[in-house]
Amino acid sequence: MTHFRTTMLLAASFLLTLTAVTAWSDDAPAQAFTLEAPLGIDLDALQVPDDNPLSAEKIELGKLLYFDGRLSSDGTVSCATCHHPDKGFTDQLKFSKGVDGQEGGRNSPTVINTAFGYFQFWDGRAPTLEAQAGGPIENPIEMASSHDEAVKTISGIAGYAPYFEKAFGDKTVTIDRITKAIASYERTVLSGNSAWDRFVDGDKAALSESAQRGLELFEGKANCTRCHVGFNLTDGLFHNLGVGMDADKPDLGRYDVTKKEEDKGAFKTPTVRDIQRTGPYMHDGSVATLEEVIELYDRGGEKNQWLDVKMVPLGLTDGEKKDLLAFMKSLEGDWKHEAPANLPK
Ligand code: HEC
Ligand code: HEC
Repeated sequence: MTHFRTTMLLAASFLLTLTAVTAWSDDAPAQAFTLEAPLGIDLDALQVPDDNPLSAEKIELGKLLYFDGRLSSDGTVSCATCHHPDKGFTDQLKFSKGVDGQEGGRNSPTVINTAFGYFQFWDGRAPTLEAQAGGPIENPIEMASSHDEAVKTISGIAGYAPYFEKAFGDKTVTIDRITKAIASYERTVLSGNSAWDRFVDGDKAALSESAQRGLELFEGKANCTRCHVGFNLTDGLFHNLGVGMDADKPDLGRYDVTKKEEDKGAFKTPTVRDIQRTGPYMHDGSVATLEEVIELYDRGGEKNQWLDVKMVPLGLTDGEKKDLLAFMKSLEGDWKHEAPANLPK
């Protein structure tokens, strides 16, 4: 199984090192910072833009902002409302509820390990976490604010000034700095050291016999690694499983970004780490349980014109379905993240 773990993730040009951060650009006054890698996690694959190197100070500020509802128009909705650590960095709802309880049309994906992705959102429309973070603040049904409004509000909270100063060299608040700080915090939301990681690392007792059979199925008969591949269990690419395609006006996903026919109904492959904590599943939250997910794959997805060629009926026995489920449950990481005790006043 090492071949599967070490599968290189797309282009090597994305590889960036996290340690040698000594450049003193305007936005990086802070000193070098090294993240600690949980077992099984390849930090070289973390996507960190050159103009936003990690620093402890940016991460600290970003964490406060991530949990601060004052970034929204009515002060009630923060990033954590829809991506909460207690709920596997999701909201565990079919559709998220934003300001005034408004519902969107997509399920809130987990923020866990999303820093390894080359694309953000189910349809990949944002290239980086920085670009992503500006979206919800001004999305009318999420935080329903504007970038100017958010900057004004945060500038008006005196307690934030020292945090901006430490992170960026002076206390000026800009949307660029807000999103850089939030993205830096998100890069610390890493999950590894699961029973699976420990098993691969040589602890043969870490997985039950059933979960070991499940792992074999995951890589073999059940075809899962054709898409959920590498240490983060995703190819980072887009596929049509047919989910939601029977709607009158189906969500066309990646197609709306690329306008390519073959992208119709294709969505980004999510990680399946911590999968037990992040239901309901799929871009439309239409699949309630992991048992139902396995049934969906067993029948080869939902038939439609654009179904991914990798989706084929699997013919799993009841015992094999149980084994696969046992393996999925072994993917829970040992991370700890909590809301900050206090927000700046
Ligand atoms: C009202 C709920 C809501 C709020 C508030 C919210 N999000 Fe999201 N988030 C979502 C939904 C729903 C999606 C998926 C939307 C899509 O793919 O079109 C998403 C997608 C994401 C993604 C992409 C993950 C992936 O796997 O591609 C990240 C990262 C993210 N949000 C971070 C944030 C941050 C940071 C904030 C605060 C600035 C925030 N979210 C605020 C609901 C929310
Ligand atoms: C053809 C590529 C492909 C294959 C093969 C595949 N998946 Fe997926 N998987 C995806 C994509 C893409 C999604 C999201 C689809 C959507 O939302 O419409 C997904 C979603 C999931 C989800 C829900 C994740 C979430 O956060 O909502 C689980 C669980 C899952 N897959 C497990 C499996 C298992 C188990 C197998 C093997 C039986 C498997 N997948 C095979 C591409 C694939």
